[in-house]
Amino acid sequence: MKADMTPPGTSRTSGTAGKTSHKTLVDSLSATLSRREAKSARRRLTILPRTAVDFSSNDFLSLSTSSAYRERFLALLNNTPPSFPLASGGSRLLDGNSAYAEELENFLATFHRAPTALLFNSGYDANVGVLSSIPQPGDVILYDEFIHASAHEGMRLSRAGPREMFAHSSPVGLREALQSQIDEDPAIAEGARNVFVLIESIYSMDGDVAPIKEFIAVVDELLPQGNGYFYVDEAHATGVFGPRGAGVVQELGVQDRMFIRVHTFGKALASHGAVVLCGPETRDYLINYARSLIYTTALGFPFLASIRAAYEILASGETESLQRRLQELIGHLRQRLAGLHTYQSVMFEVDHFPTSPIISLRTSQPRQLASLCQENGFIVRAIMPPTIPEGKERVRVCLHAGNTEAEIDGLTRMIQSWLDQSHRNVSKL
Ligand SMILES: Cc1ncc(COP(=O)(O)O)c(C=O)c1O
Repeated sequence: MKADMTPPGTSRTSGTAGKTSHKTLVDSLSATLSRREAKSARRRLTILPRTAVDFSSNDFLSLSTSSAYRERFLALLNNTPPSFPLASGGSRLLDGNSAYAEELENFLATFHRAPTALLFNSGYDANVGVLSSIPQPGDVILYDEFIHASAHEGMRLSRAGPREMFAHSSPVGLREALQSQIDEDPAIAEGARNVFVLIESIYSMDGDVAPIKEFIAVVDELLPQGNGYFYVDEAHATGVFGPRGAGVVQELGVQDRMFIRVHTFGKALASHGAVVLCGPETRDYLINYARSLIYTTALGFPFLASIRAAYEILASGETESLQRRLQELIGHLRQRLAGLHTYQSVMFEVDHFPTSPIISLRTSQPRQLASLCQENGFIVRAIMPPTIPEGKERVRVCLHAGNTEAEIDGLTRMIQSWLDQSHRNVSKL
């Protein structure tokens, strides 16, 4: 039999004069992109001018441009002999391990009051590696509806049994989801099946802090056999919340109740990579089964040094003043937003958890508002589905310790002028 050489995802259409014309793969890709464009959901890479004011990046402590951080990083780089390899040279399991990496892990474990620490190349890799390997066949995963895409990817690859979503940051929602699993499967109440509860401590798009203690109370009550395991992703809390930026879990003092904690370094720590904090058996299991750790080149020395530099600064207490400054600016922006003159005719709502550096400006026209701000030198981003659910479109504003009150005043003036203009436009109709 002759093999069909049509590339996957393409269709054949008959052409003229005996020729066959194909809808090529590129045609299919372009058509899919056009459909996304029609829904105003097409993503694009953008480069905004460096002179613009950053109200968008995750560089919450402004460490990325801090000379103290840069100097410490360069000192760590320079203090090694010239023969010290820059590259890791392979997977952690082959040539990519080093005493430097292991010392860094010990330092991170001590800082975060965890039994052990294991580095991953990114938060994405950490979530995929842990969630695809740790929950065992038949185990249950309950996850917050706003959990990050990388956790979804990990769950997709997992051998676990049911994966159920619960309402965002809702202890009642968690209780209902857990109770319904218990009702369906007596092995859960007997402690014969594990239940993983997946949350973030601060949510990337909504910026709210999870009610972790309330969640613990629900799990303690419904799973007295101790087979409930918390998995908390602290990506956005790292450096920003808790003692010396150690995160929300340590602020609450509940680190011993978390089975796994993930901290990432690409946001407030101005670096790259992530650490999984867990017990020694779990660490050993991950070294054996987490494919996103095993089948990739380990972080090289420059990245390890930059992570070390960031954590040395946290541990020294130097960033506490930045944490406080960030809170002052959050207070200032809240005040300015509360003073905006809004109109019934223009949908606009501020959605904000009081201490969070991430603020949502909910509007049905986020692209217009973001464009006006960008044209006037303020970088903010419109956040559209599929990144967030339909109907939850917004402009996301992120504050940084390096922003100023004057910049915040400029941004809020721009928001006011957009509100006024939108109202005038609606009134003309
Ligand atoms: C909650 C959360 N987890 C994980 C990640 C992924 O981390 P990384 O950027 O280090 O891959 C992100 C980043 O966007 C995130 O917001």
